[in-house]
Amino acid sequence: MATKAVKKTKLADEMINNIRTRKAVPGLIGLGYVGLPLAIVLAEAGFKVVGYDISKQKVKLLNAGKSDIDDISDEEVRKAVSTGHLVATDDPKRISQMDTISICVPTPLSKTKDPDVSFILKAVEEITPNLKRGALVVLESTTYPGTTEDLILPKLEETGLKVGQDFFLAFSPERVDPGNPKYNTRNTPRVVGGVTPDCTRVAMAFYEQTLPLVRAVSSTQAAEMVKLLENTFRSVNIGLVNEVALMCDRLKINVWEIIDAASSKPFGFMPFYPGPGLGGHCIPIDPHYLSWKLKSLNYYARFIELAGDINSHMPEWVVERAIRLLSTRAGVALSKANVLVLGLAYKRDIKDIRESPALDVISLFKERGAKVTFNDPHVPDFEMDGKRVKSTKVTEALLKQSDLVVIVTDHTSYDYQWIVDHSKLVFDTRNATKKVTRNRDRIELL
Ligand SMILES: NC(=O)c1ccc[n+]([C@@H]2O[C@H](COP(=O)([O-])OP(=O)(O)OC[C@H]3O[C@@H](n4cnc5c(N)ncnc54)[C@H](O)[C@@H]3O)[C@@H](O)[C@H]2O)c1
Repeated sequence: MATKAVKKTKLADEMINNIRTRKAVPGLIGLGYVGLPLAIVLAEAGFKVVGYDISKQKVKLLNAGKSDIDDISDEEVRKAVSTGHLVATDDPKRISQMDTISICVPTPLSKTKDPDVSFILKAVEEITPNLKRGALVVLESTTYPGTTEDLILPKLEETGLKVGQDFFLAFSPERVDPGNPKYNTRNTPRVVGGVTPDCTRVAMAFYEQTLPLVRAVSSTQAAEMVKLLENTFRSVNIGLVNEVALMCDRLKINVWEIIDAASSKPFGFMPFYPGPGLGGHCIPIDPHYLSWKLKSLNYYARFIELAGDINSHMPEWVVERAIRLLSTRAGVALSKANVLVLGLAYKRDIKDIRESPALDVISLFKERGAKVTFNDPHVPDFEMDGKRVKSTKVTEALLKQSDLVVIVTDHTSYDYQWIVDHSKLVFDTRNATKKVTRNRDRIELL
């Protein structure tokens, strides 16, 4: 879709100047895994940032100098707040102070796996009565192509302000990868697509203050699609490698050895790894936004649906393998077994359990009558069937009394050699034990 041709406006130049001179007040709507790191980066770049979140608890926590997410330390929040570079608020009227408004609210799926854009709509309802002339509004939440211009633009223009002339609107997908030691909000390049060329220009200037590389695309729809391609690429490749793992099991071939060897090819191959299933707020969800949109255009997104199907059945596969392992190696039925699950977070070294496959694995074990204990050094407890379940300390005694230890998340703080040495049987769904040298006969890999 072509970007609408609108001449360069004086207002856009003024706005860019205000951004460059730090006169502009950046604002965030939603201070979670995406919004908070952005707020901190902006505060560090010398802006006075206003962060709005509907969660009173979160606002209180942040203003007390505390972080509730893995990638941001208390020290970073404390510094930003104590120097007056960040203030958190639950008062929507403070949106009227914001010159830039980055919308970083959740975009989950409904029970029927359809996009739930209600958080975006609510955020826009809060912005509309408080929208300043000249403000830049950027949607960062992952969503289907068309959301920015079909859902947000008409609501903002109901104020009487005109896009590209009185305010600027763009989409720029956040690419944060929680727990990634190398790439974060400070060094991951950005893609930006505005409704008009001036919208793109202002949005580019905004992100260029904190990032080394910002790339423009031709429209908001293109920027929305970029994010969906990135996450669909991951989902499909993980689906493929999960299916290869199922094939290798039947062929009695070690899938991990195959991937390692294939990775020696310096071109045309990129390793993806099998596992107990997808987790987090992105990969299991985002591709469904795209397939949902395509259904409305009478197109069935086959790769997305197939990968989703394979990936979502991996927890069942883990349980099936555990049943087989317990019966062939220990002569114990799952219904009589003590099972210890190591790792609840959806990936290593973080505490986020949203969509974590460990939740499904535990619930499937329980449904089949196993006595399940879990440990996660990052997750002290979680809610299951209306009850809080606590993480149990891993001791030699606990390992010894477990008929099966299942490694669901490969946190680096675990001493895998020690775990294997004191366990009867270990089912490793992540190849976390690859460096273990003693007692390898006790390990079964996915
Ligand atoms: N978490 C990731 O790794 C990641 C990476 C890239 C993109 N994204 C996308 O970014 C978006 C946000 O994800 P997240 O992980 O930061 O979510 P999150 O749940 O961690 O944070 C969202 C925050 O928004 C707040 N909120 C909800 N509705 C609000 C409203 N109307 N007004 C103000 N605040 C509101 C919530 O209280 C919460 O603090 C999603 O679309 C997600 O797909 C997430």
